[in-house]
Amino acid sequence: MDNVVSSVEELRAQQLERLRWSLRHAYDHVPHYRGAFDAAGVHPDDVHELADLSRFPFTAKADLRDNYPFGMFAVPREQVSRIHASSGTTGKPTVVGYTREDIDTWAEVMARSIEAAGGRPGDMVHIAYGYGLFTGGIGAHYGAERLGCTVVPVSGGMTERQVQLIQDFRPRIIMVTPSYFLAILDEMEAQGIDPKDTSLEIGIFGAEPWTEQMREEVQRRSNLRAVDIYGLSEVMGPGVSQESGQTQDGLHVWEDHFYPEVVDPITGEVLPDGEEGELVFTSLTKQAMPVVRYRTRDLTTLLPGTAYPQFRRMAKITGRSDDMMIVRGVNVFPSQIEEHLLAIEGLTPHYLCVLTRPGRMDELTVQVESAHPTDEAARAAMASALRSRVKDHVGVTIAVEVLAPHALERSLGKAKRISDRRDLR
Ligand code: DLL
Repeated sequence: MDNVVSSVEELRAQQLERLRWSLRHAYDHVPHYRGAFDAAGVHPDDVHELADLSRFPFTAKADLRDNYPFGMFAVPREQVSRIHASSGTTGKPTVVGYTREDIDTWAEVMARSIEAAGGRPGDMVHIAYGYGLFTGGIGAHYGAERLGCTVVPVSGGMTERQVQLIQDFRPRIIMVTPSYFLAILDEMEAQGIDPKDTSLEIGIFGAEPWTEQMREEVQRRSNLRAVDIYGLSEVMGPGVSQESGQTQDGLHVWEDHFYPEVVDPITGEVLPDGEEGELVFTSLTKQAMPVVRYRTRDLTTLLPGTAYPQFRRMAKITGRSDDMMIVRGVNVFPSQIEEHLLAIEGLTPHYLCVLTRPGRMDELTVQVESAHPTDEAARAAMASALRSRVKDHVGVTIAVEVLAPHALERSLGKAKRISDRRDLR
């Protein structure tokens, strides 16, 4: 691994020094941060220990939108060597920028991530994350090159061709969203190829939530080791945290560059490690677009390090605070539906949660697919099995529609899990 500190004590000292630099950099060069710090009565010079960060104001996606496109940049535009963007729920995308050094840091943490997953110099890496404004493809690409791999920059889509290239080039590693990997597996099976017979040994899956049950399903069908990678454009892109291929026990946060906190999503209070809440990041080394206490909306828990003892882990993301459905007063996340759906024989792992509001209450209909053509009685039995599992484990009554094989639209990148058809007028 590249030059990283090896003990927690060294790491904390490095973080404090970098944090003070980063807060000062944001305050001096980004009017938004100067205004927000002044309004909160805090100053970068007040930071004497890491815990002092909790007195600083949060940054939200709305702040980036209000400063669209380049208002959050802390360097002159000419020093920004790359722009990426992610689509928001409203019209304007969220724009992020990188200096040459930022690109270098990103390649370094991404190379570290691929290595942690089990990759080595010389491996061939098939990248099926989308290339373009999305950070997935290009971010993974630079990291794989940095590690010394042979990179196949396929991007997303054209699933038949993905399968052909995997067959012909024989990559050891694939980097792709888990939902699109399922589509690739389906295509292999449709072509009469057993996914267990391919050259793939490691899958580095991320950009969307996925469950342990999904990991089991993918590993059972394909014989590869499925590991989780996390990141977000605002903080860097992929490579903010990575699961070790050896321990497969959650994602090590590359804390020497990205300082994590977990807060209560409602009160904003910092929670102790081990408690679940919303993940918040402060960048420690980023030049072009520092972020201070950025609210990710992602829900997780910080845990002690294992494979890399100096770096804390984050548990698999269980959902986003804005992905939470409230059905008859019960909080439900798509990941909970996924977990139970995968326990039922005869259903595929593809699904969509449809929200409607026929009266005053929200109703959730989960659309799933049968794996093979079946009669109505068999479909009714599968629907009832899923309904009662969800009722027993999640505590909510849902409707289930079992559709024909391949009836649900396949994702080419991030899967859309919720279709909100509520009439909220
Ligand atoms: O999705 C960066 C990325 C690309 C990560 C490729 C991993 C692999 P954004 O488009 O800005 O960036 O979306 C970030 O995606 O806040 C999470 O909600 C979700 N997300 C990313 N990775 C994971 C993961 C990229 N491993 C948003 N598990 C984040 C769960 C994830 N959710």
